[in-house]
Amino acid sequence: MSGRVLVLGSLNVDVVTRVHRHPAPGETVLGDGLQRFAGGKGGNQAVAASAAGAHVTFAGAVGSDDAGAAYRRRLADLGIDVAALVTVDGPSGHALVQVDEGGENSIVVIPGANAAVNDAEGSPAMRAVAELAPGDVLLMQLEVPLTTVAAAARLAAQRGARVVINAAPFAELPAETIAVADPLIVNESEAALLARSGVRPGSLLVTAGSGGSTWGELHVPAEVVAPDQVRDTTGAGDAYCGAFAAALARGAGAEEAMRAASHAGAEAVRRIGAQPHPELD
Ligand code: RIB
Repeated sequence: MSGRVLVLGSLNVDVVTRVHRHPAPGETVLGDGLQRFAGGKGGNQAVAASAAGAHVTFAGAVGSDDAGAAYRRRLADLGIDVAALVTVDGPSGHALVQVDEGGENSIVVIPGANAAVNDAEGSPAMRAVAELAPGDVLLMQLEVPLTTVAAAARLAAQRGARVVINAAPFAELPAETIAVADPLIVNESEAALLARSGVRPGSLLVTAGSGGSTWGELHVPAEVVAPDQVRDTTGAGDAYCGAFAAALARGAGAEEAMRAASHAGAEAVRRIGAQPHPELD
């Protein structure tokens, strides 16, 4: 029987514009159009895991605004368990996303409600973690407070669940958190920051876009996507992580999980937005 995937993380409203090229510091460029999409690394990964067939629970927070209610409905409609998704007074998380003509993005995240995802005993997030069992996967990213990530990782490991951490956006984690991550997933720029911090995780998976992904000794090439098919790279890493966690939860081995993840990442760059059908009603 497959394990469950608990995604503990962020939900953002992505406010997206297309740019000819990204502005240099101090420069102004014109954007083309403005769209609001469902995003946030946690939400993107949960939707990707669900699309890959996993039974997914989401633990996190939305604000008391209309966007928060719309995002809750969206996840529930996709079959994701939102019992551990709390609503807090104030705005939901937002992300300002610019996508250039090559599909490359730059993003500024305003945490909003995501900052309220806490590790207080009995909090909905920690209750969800306390229900994990061997075979389940806890998948986290770093857009919620690091103290919560650390506490959830500790408790999930005690419960015998697998802990997968996507260290994005990069931040230094406690050594005990890195020690239980299997794997810690980073992209190339995050890998460079990790190396500079002097930390050597025991289980490290590095994604390199078209260069494929490497977990320890194992390298899996990326699926080839023709440059003219790359529409938007936003959320491609999240699609990778979500599909990867879903594969681990159903018992796949490392290579099979990485291949499934690569396929999901390749699909993601072919579409606009961080999730399939990302419009928020
Ligand atoms: O990884 C892409 C995501 O990063 C976007 O959806 C944005 O919300 C930020 O969290």
